[in-house]
Parts: sequence; structure tokens; C-alpha cells
Amino acid sequence: MGIRIKGTGRCIPEKILTNEDLEKMVDTSDEWIVTRTGIKERHIAEAEQSSSDLGAQAALNALENAGLTADQIDLIIVSTVTPDHAFPSVSALIQKKIGAGKCPCFDIEAACSGLLYALNTAYGMMASPLAYKRVLVVAAEKMTSLVDWQDRSTCVLFGDAAAAVVLENDGDPNTPDFYIAGEVAADGSVSDILIVPAGGSRTPASAETVANKQHYIQMGGPKTFQLAVTSMVSACRNVLEKSGVSPDEIVWAIPHQANRRIIDAVAGKLGIPEKVYLNVDRYGNTSSASIGICLDELNREGKIKKGDLILTASFGAGLTWAALLIRW
Ligand code: ACO
Repeated sequence: MGIRIKGTGRCIPEKILTNEDLEKMVDTSDEWIVTRTGIKERHIAEAEQSSSDLGAQAALNALENAGLTADQIDLIIVSTVTPDHAFPSVSALIQKKIGAGKCPCFDIEAACSGLLYALNTAYGMMASPLAYKRVLVVAAEKMTSLVDWQDRSTCVLFGDAAAAVVLENDGDPNTPDFYIAGEVAADGSVSDILIVPAGGSRTPASAETVANKQHYIQMGGPKTFQLAVTSMVSACRNVLEKSGVSPDEIVWAIPHQANRRIIDAVAGKLGIPEKVYLNVDRYGNTSSASIGICLDELNREGKIKKGDLILTASFGAGLTWAALLIRW
């Protein structure tokens, strides 16, 4: 059909928080964090920077990479778990910030799987009779707005960032689509293992919810770890089977960058450890932005060439998970 990735971008906040910095804030150590997670440092947004600020920068960066201007975009989809407000959507704010026209905009909330959910949705909307031609997909996350800096079990894990992908249908039937096969899934029966309990309609914000720290991430770490591995392995296997592509043909495997040990376990089970792209050491878990940052780094460093097959996989709160096999 001719739907391809035309450009990628990212926005990484300047400020770096190292493991040594965290040693001064909570009872932890560089050795514990590196051994258990592989993370050495993460980037932290300024107080006045919101998800839409990060997302708009990543979007402009991706548009430049695509050689397009914002007014040429006819749909914007944003993945985020840290919207600027309950409403309006971050996508509407980004539309205004980048100077796009009055195209439709909506947000997707699928936690760390959000970028793959958004790419899946975008592809469906481009390939269907809706026939959107140029779609901007952004993943924008200010995870530190949900972090309790006194909780060592979560504060060492997360960082802030945004990434963007521009998709274009060039209308040439000889251009193969970027989308080869995908699986997106969720299991709401385990929604309580990763949760921000208050601030929504279930438990609106109050002095009590603030005092009880209910606006911060609460996580069952070991259970999340186990489900992350099983869900990503099964989604990758299903996608490879559906597409008839063998693991040998994959050029890069890009897993969600949450924890080095999760990534190693998944790559080991799939038998492709040498194909894995890693940057969790530099950014920590940036939720749905993480796979987009990897794609943009590989793209800008010239490490992927036209036609390369890239296997992406993610998991996140919900629990959600997804795998997409992409042709560059
Ligand atoms: N520094 C030092 N010690 C720590 C720290 C820390 N930062 N954090 C926890 N510990 C301690 C615990 O208190 C515990 O001590 P205890 O045995 O005395 O009780 C010990 O370390 C072991 O804790 P575990 O939780 O069992 O450690 P584990 O090896 O499972 O690693 C981790 C914890 C890194 C969180 C791991 O479980 C993990 O990565 N889980 C997946 C998390 C994840 O990927 N979440 C993604 C969510 S993102 C989203 O969807 C929004």
C-alpha cells in the first residue's frame, strides 16, 4: 500500500539524575540499581516542562527528519500516562504547539505499550477507507511527575522523555508497508499491580490522597517482572509466526527499556540476544517513549537501512503488551 516510516524524532530533557545522585536521596546504591535494573542514569524534565512540551519538541524533530511541515499532517495520535491535564488531550496541545492544521487529535493510554498501540491504530486508520495520508504519532511521558522520591523501589526506575514517528502513505503500490505483523493485547485482571491510585474519578484528589501519597506509582515489582517476560515472549513468537519471518531475519530487536534483566530474559528465550538494542542504562524507563527513542537513535546513527526488519515489544500497566514487526 505504501505506508512507511518517513521520520523519527526525540526530546530528551537536559538534566541528568545519576545513581550517585539517588544514593543521596534514598537508601540505595549504584551497585543495587545497576545489578537489578541496568540503569545508570535518567533524564529529568524541568518543573515547568510538561508532557506536551516534550512531545512537541519530539514531533518537530521528527517532522524535520521526515522533510515535512506540521501543516501537512492530517492526524495526530499521542501516547501518554502523564497528560498535562485530564482534558484537553496532549495531542490537541501538541497540534497547537507545532502549528499543525485542524486535524483530528486523540490520546491513547496503554502505559508503556502506548507507542506500539498508537502505531497499530495509526496503521489501521491509514490502511482503512479512512485513508489518512500523513500521521504523526508521539509518545510523551513525564514519569517523574508520578514518582515518589522517597520510595526507593520505584524512584530509581523512571525518567522523562518523548519520541515521535511520522508515517506517510506515498500511494505507491510497490512500496512495502512498514507494518508486517502485530499483536496488541491486555489483561485487566491484573490492573492492580501497576497503579496510580488517586487523581481519577475513582478517588479524586483531596488533602487526604495527597497526605497518603496516592498520586504516586505503586508497583508489584516481581509480579510485573514475571508477566513482562511471559507476555513479551509470547507476543513476539506470535508475530513471527503470523509473518513467517524467522528470528535470523531480524536485524534489530527493540524491547521496551524498563529493566535490563527483563530484556535479557526475553531475548534469551527468543534466541536473539545479539540483536537487542539497549539504552536503558542512559534513560531508565521512559514508559511509551522508550521504543521511539531507540528507533530514533538507530535511525539518526545510520544503523538501520531500508528494508531492515525490526521486532519491537513492550508491556506496561493495564497490564498491556504488544509486539510489532516493522520493515524500515
Ligand atoms: N535500592 C536498594 N534496595 C532496594 C531498592 C533500591 N532502589 N528497591 C528495592 N530494594 C530492596 C527491597 O526493599 C527488597 O529488600 P528486602 O528483601 O529486605 O525486602 C530487595 O531490594 C528486593 O526487592 P525486590 O522487589 O524483590 O527486587 P527485585 O529483584 O524484584 O527488583 C525491580 C525490583 C527492579 C523493581 C524488579 O522487580 C522490576 O524491574 N520489576 C519490573 C518493573 C517494571 O518494569 N515496571 C514497569 C512499569 S512501567 C509502567 O507501566 C507505567
